[in-house]
Amino acid sequence: MGLSRMFLQVMCVSVLVSGMAAAAVAFPIAKRPHCQDQCGDVKIPYPFGITEDCYLNKYFRINCGNDSSGRPQPVVGKNLVVTNISIDGELDILMYISRQCYENSSGVLGYNNNPSLRVPAFTISNTKNKFVAVGCDTYAYLNAYRNNERFSIGCMSICRSPKNVINGSCSGIGCCQVDIPKGLKNFTLDARSYNNHTRVSKFNPCSFAFVAKQDSFKFSSVYLRNMPNRRTPMVLDWAINGKETCENSKNVCGRNSHCYHPENGDGYRCRCNKGYEGNPYLVEYGCQDINECDSIPKPCVTTATCNNIDGNFTCTCLDGYEGDGKIINGTGCRPKASAGRSSIHIIIPLAISIGILVLFMGGSSIYCGLKRRKLIKLKEKFFQQNGGLLLQQKLLNYRASMEVVKIFSAEELEKATNNYDESRMLGQGGYGTVYQGVLPENKVVAIKKSKVCDQSQIEQFINEVIVLTQINHRNVVKMLGCCLETEVPLLVYEFITNGTLSNHIHDKSISSSFSWEKRLKIATETAGALAYLHSSTFVPIIHRDVKPANILLDDNYSAKVADFGTSILVPLDQTEVATLVKGTFGYLDPEYFYSNRLTEKSDVYSFGVVVAELLTGMKAVSFDRPEMDRSLAMYFNSAIDDDRLHQILDYQIVSGDNINAIKEVANLTKRCLSVRGEDRPTMKELAMELEGLRIMEKHPWAKADLYTEENEYLLSEPIHSLSIGVDVDYSFSSSTTFGFDSMRNQLVVN
Ligand SMILES: *[C@@H]1O[C@H](CO)[C@@H](O)[C@H](O)[C@H]1NC(C)=O
Ligand SMILES: *[C@@H]1O[C@H](CO)[C@@H](O)[C@H](O)[C@H]1NC(C)=O
Ligand SMILES: *[C@@H]1O[C@H](CO)[C@@H](O)[C@H](O)[C@H]1NC(C)=O
Repeated sequence: MGLSRMFLQVMCVSVLVSGMAAAAVAFPIAKRPHCQDQCGDVKIPYPFGITEDCYLNKYFRINCGNDSSGRPQPVVGKNLVVTNISIDGELDILMYISRQCYENSSGVLGYNNNPSLRVPAFTISNTKNKFVAVGCDTYAYLNAYRNNERFSIGCMSICRSPKNVINGSCSGIGCCQVDIPKGLKNFTLDARSYNNHTRVSKFNPCSFAFVAKQDSFKFSSVYLRNMPNRRTPMVLDWAINGKETCENSKNVCGRNSHCYHPENGDGYRCRCNKGYEGNPYLVEYGCQDINECDSIPKPCVTTATCNNIDGNFTCTCLDGYEGDGKIINGTGCRPKASAGRSSIHIIIPLAISIGILVLFMGGSSIYCGLKRRKLIKLKEKFFQQNGGLLLQQKLLNYRASMEVVKIFSAEELEKATNNYDESRMLGQGGYGTVYQGVLPENKVVAIKKSKVCDQSQIEQFINEVIVLTQINHRNVVKMLGCCLETEVPLLVYEFITNGTLSNHIHDKSISSSFSWEKRLKIATETAGALAYLHSSTFVPIIHRDVKPANILLDDNYSAKVADFGTSILVPLDQTEVATLVKGTFGYLDPEYFYSNRLTEKSDVYSFGVVVAELLTGMKAVSFDRPEMDRSLAMYFNSAIDDDRLHQILDYQIVSGDNINAIKEVANLTKRCLSVRGEDRPTMKELAMELEGLRIMEKHPWAKADLYTEENEYLLSEPIHSLSIGVDVDYSFSSSTTFGFDSMRNQLVVN
């Protein structure tokens, strides 16, 4: 066990490292070879540097010392911890909070500080920060300089009772926040109070003021007592400082780069020209050509060859294809209409002479007719190439009617998507592009256009289409039909309105309202859908790509599992595995590394990672965590093993009421993340356990020992019908939670 875990970590780390090498910087970022270009996890690009011959001037000096736990930590200025340096001119730091604290209701000042930052090369980012004050007897200043003149902004916050404040709201009651104007530098933070907190000292002894990175701060009434940290993350804009401008400083930026003036603050910056990458501040080295042909995703379609040229690239379509070969903003390559070149050569002169004739007769309809015939021929060709005949035949065999799989025409879908207009694009993945389409009668659909289609995969694709259309589960995105008349097949799905689960977990602006109740509902429904796929359909379906990006949500936070079976569309040969591993790395079953097979238990593992994300709000793979903990699965397991669950939970979901349920889900998750597939529970087991926990959550009184007669009566009914409902759910119907919800509504009314 220990050995296999070690093996796994070695595997994972090596995959991560090689994955990184492909994507990450291959160019030097420090000034000279001997210059240290990293401190802890933070990369240090020139003009920043650690030793004297490595930084541009003293403002860019980084001190790489140890933090209290002995890890290396970059510090700028006197004592400001740096968390990220971007070559585009941003600097993430931790800035101190200004506090003014009083001893008790007598109004005796106990503590006061006015942290400041005076580095002329740094301007407070006006787009990424807010100035915030917290307190119930509070006003605060941000005193700064703009264009070398004093400049202050301020904000006030009061309240009479902690009951009056609203968690998450910063609008003058206990918390206020204001925007930061452009161009502020050399600033000092100053928190003050009107009445020395004499009236509010019971619950709010201090005033606080700080600059906080947008969305990093969420006000909570508990902060009135004390702010949990001494520092908050904030963002600075940096530029080569002083009176220098691009015009009066020659040769400041390296080769293949240019000089520009930042929008916020003075000084100048350098940026690589388009098509080049590197550190533009390194004068001798400059920026290097990007080899676009090696980038992922590839810039040219598979039927074109890519040719890297200095600062750019070209695509050349293979013989028999025409177009510019580009995927982005390009036409790709279409097969040349081979339908009888020679006949066209004869027809065209003929058409011209006839055309002159018919012009007099008032019609160019013959020409159009010819064109249309050519188009129809092409469509027929694609239809056959895409397995249309096979599909028709299969449908006959299954005695399915055309109602089951609607075959859309190319025109219908072109019209629905406004000719695949970019504005209709919903998303782009490794397998293709998804567009929003509007069918007649204003029915909104999602249309997936796959990128590649290997001829040998056609039969599987057709099977897939049939299997997909057999699925009828309320937590699986429904496929409505397909279109085979185009070069690549198009699939049409129902349109799901509320985005992906991934957005809801990781988008900071919405994750705070993403409650435990919703998360548990989504986990339960996803488990139900996967269990259904595994056990109930006439051919068991392994999803193979379970991840939050593939779980869509509707307006009621119902989960809709999407994108299964794409793995059949795209065969898992060597290169495909590479992309799979790239896109889905954190979710991939560790057993896959030696068996090269994905099973039902692989879906269970991926599902475990999804639930771990729901519990922690963390990403499946994150380079912010220490190396051994980059994969959430391992991080999660080791936290549970060490009994540290509370440290990694997303605090936004935890309340006294749900902690037991959370613990149970965490234990289930750990079982899903077992290294050996056979140690993992089945999807069906998971679905049942989660459903059970949901009942407890919805009806906490179900746990109570005593109920009134009335309650008892109400209780016995639903629990009974529910356990049946759960089973029914696996075998097609989707009534489970419906019955239950309506029951609940009644209860509430009563
Ligand atoms: C930082 O810690 C490392 C080992 O943890 C030690 O070797 C080094 O001397 C320390 N550096 C400073 C400046 O304390
Ligand atoms: C650092 O900043 C860069 C550029 O803004 C960003 O891409 C990267 O994710 C950041 N890294 C961390 C650890 O925040
Ligand atoms: C705000 O949230 C905290 C815990 O996150 C809670 O203790 C406090 O009672 C809440 N305050 C209000 C006013 O809702």
